[in-house]
Amino acid sequence: MDIQTSSGRFTEIDVQALAVAVFKDEAADEGFLKELDAASGGLVRSVLEAEELKGKEGETAYLHLSPNGGGAKAKRLLLVGVGERADYRAAQVSQFAGAAVRALRSRNVKAVGLVPRFEGDAAEAASSAVEGAVIGLFEPDKYRTIDKEERSVERLVVVGEGAGEEDLRRGAERGRVVGESVNFTRDLANEPGAYMTPTIMAERAQEIANQFGLEIDVLDQARMEQEGMGALLSVARGSDQPPKMMVLTYMPEGKEKIEDGEDYLALVGKGITFDTGGISIKPSENMELMKYDMTGGATVLGVMRAVAQLKPPIPILGVVPSTENMPSGKATKPGDVVRAMTGKTIEVINTDAEGRLILADAVSYAKKLGATRVIDMATLTGAVSIALGDVNTGLLGTDQELINEIIESGHEVGEKFWQLPLDKEYTKQIKSDIADIKNVGGRKAGTITAAAFIKEFADGISWAHLDIAGTAWGDEAKPFRAKGPTGVAVRTLLNFIRRASDRADAAKEADGKGK
Ligand code: BES
Ligand code: MN
Ligand code: ZN
Repeated sequence: MDIQTSSGRFTEIDVQALAVAVFKDEAADEGFLKELDAASGGLVRSVLEAEELKGKEGETAYLHLSPNGGGAKAKRLLLVGVGERADYRAAQVSQFAGAAVRALRSRNVKAVGLVPRFEGDAAEAASSAVEGAVIGLFEPDKYRTIDKEERSVERLVVVGEGAGEEDLRRGAERGRVVGESVNFTRDLANEPGAYMTPTIMAERAQEIANQFGLEIDVLDQARMEQEGMGALLSVARGSDQPPKMMVLTYMPEGKEKIEDGEDYLALVGKGITFDTGGISIKPSENMELMKYDMTGGATVLGVMRAVAQLKPPIPILGVVPSTENMPSGKATKPGDVVRAMTGKTIEVINTDAEGRLILADAVSYAKKLGATRVIDMATLTGAVSIALGDVNTGLLGTDQELINEIIESGHEVGEKFWQLPLDKEYTKQIKSDIADIKNVGGRKAGTITAAAFIKEFADGISWAHLDIAGTAWGDEAKPFRAKGPTGVAVRTLLNFIRRASDRADAAKEADGKGK
């Protein structure tokens, strides 16, 4: 898709259709809608007066403008409800754009102009609009050969009347990178297990590292053995596919290495490319969905892919432990005791609680590489969707400031996180009679005891954990997004990194002035 920006008047934009944001209960006889109404020869007013569209989020009305009358070059108009004007932020602009391109694509429009009517920062508006459009156009039907969605939007023009051209362009470019990286994560999550083994996932990681310039190290089984990663290896034992641990490093330009005591952010993501449950095998109903059990890892790769292009001023480490969880004659059995990289011993009560095992060693390895702050993400527990459904991602951790920052970063991009408690009392549930800890904590508080397990390996650092099991997959399409993999948390983490970057830049500036 060709992405353009324009600071011109909406009437002059040379596209087939214009999509315009309409606020809740907005009238057609004042402000921008009055101008739009005039250009439409009164059609906008008649739609609004008939209450065909009231401006509620996700509503649309589609109009053909008269070919000879009307004052706009575009001959079709899509009105898109965006809700209350007072609540209209970057996140809503993104959803507006997604809903607009999806609706127009289905009407076979190839060239779309977006008029988000965002009053704030023009670069932010352009970024959100492009990001939302790119995400909106993703479809999961990769392997369909018949009745496929063949229509496509080929040209997108984001309109910010009177805005600085350079601001619009810069914003649009960021939006493209973010949107494409979210879709990269979705594409990986969507792949069937046979096409997304640990080896293939590591190849994809290698590709982004080569393409965008990241350092990469892929640990194979022998290296894992040297490191003593017995928890990760115990999950891999039942599989014919060799495990991989991807380690990606982003260093800002001019920076060679991490100094002692320096703040170093690591993202760690669960990369179970298929979770059968192992010997504690899962029921067959819905088991096919366990292809997306590597979404946490795919999220890390998506973020690193964007980071390599956006070039923030802070270093970032990405760690993705990856294996299948399979039953076989070699598989770990319930009751087996395994030794993690830190030396802690773990009684494996249930081989289906495998995510926390591989994360234990991955978090330990991130620490070994110098990470001082770790955010891990994983499709870790079914319990989180019982608690929070597909609306909020579960969030737990040991650093309240870090947790608050994630919630705030998510809020700005339209992703919701809900903190669950992690009091030390919960740790009692994972005490083992035979070893240091066990990998399940009983029926109660399943999401919390899973986090309490990972916490055992996150001592001495600032740590937060995202349980994305409920939010990484959408069972239904939204006006602004297809069903299937959502790419949740990629945008939040990129916003988190941007906010941290802004603070780092401000600190540097203050430092410079002090001298
Ligand atoms: N990958 C699953 C969690 C999951 C379930 C993700 C549903 C997405 C949708 C995880 O490995 C798992 O099996 N967790 C168990 C833990 C239990 C054995 C303590 C669960 O949630 O049932
Ligand atoms: Mn499992
Ligand atoms: Zn799993």
